[in-house]
Amino acid sequence: MTIAAALLLAGCLAQEEVPFAGGMPQTPSPERGQAVAEQWCATCHARDEEARAARVAQEGDGPSFAAIAGRDGRDEQFLWDFLEGDHFPMPTYRLFPQERADIAAYIVSLRVEE
Ligand code: HEC
Repeated sequence: MTIAAALLLAGCLAQEEVPFAGGMPQTPSPERGQAVAEQWCATCHARDEEARAARVAQEGDGPSFAAIAGRDGRDEQFLWDFLEGDHFPMPTYRLFPQERADIAAYIVSLRVEE
């Protein structure tokens, strides 16, 4: 096992006590996450259903971030992991860990409690 893999595994195991053991520099900020998402993701992802309905639908559009936040299991950890990998048809992003954490916090902040 490589050191990176071992650290990753250790990070996962430590998850209970330390959310985001994967090297998070600062407290995640939904505001910063929104700014990054608006810059990189807005071509395909509207903020919520209202914003999605208000814009012209395009080929390749993704679900709104609020809709994603409402899916089962879409917590900060899931989103952090998701943004680490490649997801066709999404372009591959090279986000800083802080940006990933901020975007995850932003998406989760859009969840509508029922
Ligand atoms: C070219 C269009 C496009 C761009 C740009 C894009 N996405 Fe997506 N994204 C999609 C599509 C389409 C889906 C739905 C894929 C599917 O249904 O499997 C998706 C799905 C997702 C999901 C849902 C994952 C899940 O399993 O619930 C997340 C989270 C997400 N995108 C985050 C982002 C973020 C953050 C960015 C910007 C850094 C981004 N996307 C940029 C098209 C895009």
